[in-house]
Amino acid sequence: MCGIVGAIAQRNVSDILLEGLKRLEYRGYDSAGMALIDDPEKGISTIKTVGKVAKLVEAAHKRDASGKLGIAHTRWATHGRITRANAHPHGSGDRISLVHNGIIENHESLRQELAAAGYRFATQTDTEVIAHLIRQALENGASSLLEAVTSAIAKLRGAFGLCVIDRQQPDRLVVARCGMSLVIGDGIGGENFVASDPLALGQVTDRFIYLEEGDVAQLTCDSIEVWNGGRRVKREIATLSGKASEMDKGGYQHFMQKEIFEQPQAIRDTLSGRVSGDHVLEEAFGVEAGKIFDKVEQVQIVACGTSFHAGLVAKYWLESIARMPCQVDIASDYRYRDIIVQPGTLFVAVSQSGETADTLAALRYAADRKHVATLAICNVATSSLVRESDFCLLTMAGQEIGVASTKAFTTQLTLLLILAIVLGRRNGLAGKDEARLVRDMNRLPELVDRTLKLDGEIRKLSKQFSDKNHSLFLGRGIQYPVAKEGALKLKEISYIHAEAYPAGELKHGPLALVDSDMPVIVVAPNNDLLDKLRSNLSEVSARGGKLYVFADEGIGLESDRGCKVINLPGCPEVLDPILFTVPLQLLSYHAAIIKGTDIDHPRNLAKSVTVE
Ligand code: F6R
Repeated sequence: MCGIVGAIAQRNVSDILLEGLKRLEYRGYDSAGMALIDDPEKGISTIKTVGKVAKLVEAAHKRDASGKLGIAHTRWATHGRITRANAHPHGSGDRISLVHNGIIENHESLRQELAAAGYRFATQTDTEVIAHLIRQALENGASSLLEAVTSAIAKLRGAFGLCVIDRQQPDRLVVARCGMSLVIGDGIGGENFVASDPLALGQVTDRFIYLEEGDVAQLTCDSIEVWNGGRRVKREIATLSGKASEMDKGGYQHFMQKEIFEQPQAIRDTLSGRVSGDHVLEEAFGVEAGKIFDKVEQVQIVACGTSFHAGLVAKYWLESIARMPCQVDIASDYRYRDIIVQPGTLFVAVSQSGETADTLAALRYAADRKHVATLAICNVATSSLVRESDFCLLTMAGQEIGVASTKAFTTQLTLLLILAIVLGRRNGLAGKDEARLVRDMNRLPELVDRTLKLDGEIRKLSKQFSDKNHSLFLGRGIQYPVAKEGALKLKEISYIHAEAYPAGELKHGPLALVDSDMPVIVVAPNNDLLDKLRSNLSEVSARGGKLYVFADEGIGLESDRGCKVINLPGCPEVLDPILFTVPLQLLSYHAAIIKGTDIDHPRNLAKSVTVE
C-alpha cells in the first residue's frame, strides 16, 4: 500500500519527508521517491529508487537534496511494473509534480484523450494522467493550483489521495482525498504537513486534521484551507497525545483492549483503496492479479490459530459468493500431507505476522506443487510470507502487540470477503450484487463501533465467569468458526477451558457436559438457521444450562432466568461473522481481567510462533 508525505516550511524539509517515509514502511512498498522545490528557477528536483527507503535516503544525501517544499512517496505497484520510472512522484512538463495513493479506474481513456491533446507519457502508471490533467487545467486558464486540482479530480473515477506541487506556485501544496485516508499535520511556527497516516508526522507535530471524503485542501506555511463541493469547510484539529503511537497503550489498560477498540479504524484502513463506491478495486491485489484470478477454479486456504478461523469463515463466503470450492487446512497438518492439488487451485496463506513457521513451511510446500499462484493475506509487509508469496494483500490493522489476535482477525475477514467478491465476479456474481456487498462492507466500521458500545454490559456479564473453569461456545453454519474463535480467545487469555461446537452437534455428545456450572455462549444472528438454533437453545435450557446469547437485535430474543441476551445492532447477513466476533473478544478480555491473568502476555504463548 502506497504512502504519502508532504511538507511546506521555512526550513529544508527533505529529512522530514524521508523520516516520514521510513515510518510508513510498515504499509509495504517496492520503490520510493521524493520531489523538492528549493529555488523555483532551478526547477523541481526529483529522486527515485527501486527498493528500500534506505536507498532513497542514501541517494538524497549523496545529492545533498534540499527544499522548503516537497512531496515523497512509497509505491506499491498496481499499474505498471516495479521500475524507477514508475515510482512516484510523477510530473507533467517541468511544472507539476505529484504523489498518489489509490487507483484511477478510467486512466486508459484519460490517457488516450491527453495523448491526443499532445501530452507525453513517460510511465505505465495510472497516476501520470492526473499530473497531465492538472497541467492541462492550468494551461486552460485555471487561476490557481487549487482550482486546477479541483477541476482535474472531477474527471477521475476510482480512489485517490493526492499531494501536488507546482513550480510556478512554490508557496503552496494542494492535497485531495477520495477513498484514501489523508491527514494534515498542523505544524508549529510556519510549517505544515500532510501524510497518509499521522504516524509519519509524529516527529514534527501532534496536531492533525483528518480530511473527509471529497475534501481538497491548500497548505501554505501559515495557513490550511479546506474545501468540499466548492465550499470552504471547517475541519477540527485533533491533538494526539505526545505518547500516542502504536507502541503505547494510548490510555487503554492493555494492548489487547486498545486493539479491540481500534477495529473500526483498522477495517476502514483495510477497505481504503480496495473498494470504491460500489465495487472492489481488483488492481489493489497487484499488477498481475487479474490474470491470475482468471485462472482460479478453487481455493486452498492454509493458516494457524486465529488466522485459521478466518479461513474457515472465508470458505462459506467463497462457496456462497464466488460459487467456488474451498478447502481450509491447518498449516502444521497440511505441510506433512500427501496433498492432491486440483487444477486451477489458488493457494492462500493467512497470517498476522507472516513469520509463523508452519504457515511458511506450508507456503514453501505449496509453491512446489502447481498451484495457479500463492497469495499471502498478511499484516506485516516486510514478512517472509509476503516476500515468498507470488502476490499479497495486506491487512492494514497496524502493529498488533497483544498476543491474542483481535484486529488482525477482523481485517483478515474483511480482505477474504473482498477476495470472494473478486473471484465471484468471474463466476456469475452480478454487478448489482457486488454493489450491495460493497455497500454493506462500507457500513462495517460504523457497525463495529456500535457493537463496541456494548463493552459495559459485557463487562458486567463477565463477572458471572469468575468461578467458572469450563465453557461451551455454539454457532451454526458460518458462525461456527466465530464460536471457535470466541473459545480460543477465552481459553488463551483467561485460562478458562472453552470448547466450540456447531450447535447442531450438541445432542451428539457435548450435551452431556451441560449443567449449571457450564456457561454456554451462543452467537445468534438473524439468518435462515435461526429456528434451528432456537431448538438448540431449548435443549440447553431444559438441562439447567446457563445461556449467554449474543443475538441480532432483530430476532427479538429476551433474557429470562436461564438465558442472558445481549443484543447486537442488526446488520447485513454477510457481515455477521465480523460483527459477532467483537463481543466475544470483549467477553474474553473482561473474564481475563477478573481472573487476573497477564492479558497481553498469556502464559506459555508467543506473539509470533517462528518455530514448529
Ligand atoms: C490467537 C493467536 C494465534 C495466532 C496463530 C497464527 O489469538 O493469535 O492463534 O493466530 O499463532 O499466527 P499468525 O496469524 O501470525 O500466523
